[in-house]
Amino acid sequence: MSDVHSLQRVEELPTDYRADLDAGNVLAAWTLLRAVMPVGKPNQQALATKWSYKHLRPLMLRAGSLVPMERAERRVLAYVNPGLPRERMATTPSIFFGLQMIMPGERAPNHKHIPAAARVIIEGSGAYTTVDDEKLHMEPGDVILTPPLHWHDHGNEGKKPVIWMDVLDHPLAVPMDVSYILPGALAESYIEQPDSGDTWFSCPGLVPYRGPNRRPPDYPLRRFRWDRVRGALMASAEVASRDEPVHLRYCNPETGKSILKTMDFSARLVRPGESRSMVRASANRVFLVMGGRLEIEVNGATHVCEQHDTVCVPTYASVTLQNTSSAPAFLLQVDDTPTMTKLGFYEELT
Ligand SMILES: [Fe+2]
Repeated sequence: MSDVHSLQRVEELPTDYRADLDAGNVLAAWTLLRAVMPVGKPNQQALATKWSYKHLRPLMLRAGSLVPMERAERRVLAYVNPGLPRERMATTPSIFFGLQMIMPGERAPNHKHIPAAARVIIEGSGAYTTVDDEKLHMEPGDVILTPPLHWHDHGNEGKKPVIWMDVLDHPLAVPMDVSYILPGALAESYIEQPDSGDTWFSCPGLVPYRGPNRRPPDYPLRRFRWDRVRGALMASAEVASRDEPVHLRYCNPETGKSILKTMDFSARLVRPGESRSMVRASANRVFLVMGGRLEIEVNGATHVCEQHDTVCVPTYASVTLQNTSSAPAFLLQVDDTPTMTKLGFYEELT
């Protein structure tokens, strides 16, 4: 589709008129209309990009000696999309991914912030996250939530560095002028039962009884254990038909809603020899390979991925996941479908 008439350029307006518009804090919208609403398809800035963990791991470890915790607050290497302005510190226009490391004996200061966050543990054990004084153990593959404005800190009681992936929605919060952080004091004691949510929701289909007049909490379960997710994927793969994707979505066990309000998390098992094309949709997506080897084809370009590699995918991209190995591949998918849906921006192309 093309415009019948070309829109007037700002240079075609008299200089004095433009100056008067500037002075009044207005502009001639018709001269910039196609910048904000191009015909037929959006102006996409974000680029499909792969981050290799093998390449980044030594840089993450080196940061341990380059910056002490008190000078970093959080020791994070941000995955910045090369198509987006660096100061946005964004992996996609709405999602941030970044590697974080905590050294043995360290504690990262307590704080809370507007952006929602989740951690996906990459390697190491003996670390923990506290959320509102609930101590959550961090084992490889676990997803741990620190929802907006909930106090949280991290510590490492193990003998080796612990590395995890931070996932945040500050790329959405910053342009909305609401992103801020508050420092707090480190908790001296914790709720006695660690991982209490994991106990209360240990039986699928059973939730704490709250009665008809009590609203279920937004974040009743904050640690999603990878050993259980992996086991569920393996069991599902046993019974799923070959043409059915093995794809499980993380959810609030009491409401079925997304585990964070802005982002959806889901886990996939891609069988040996399986090739699966995803629906083309307006969602921004990021993939983190949790195990095995996977080829992720985005708009015709193939990214060969090993464990812990990350690939981000622009809106409306065509994506095919292909496992050419002889072992199952495991993938964590984070996307902004909840945001897109709430805003009325979500669509799928057929
Ligand atoms: Fe934080």
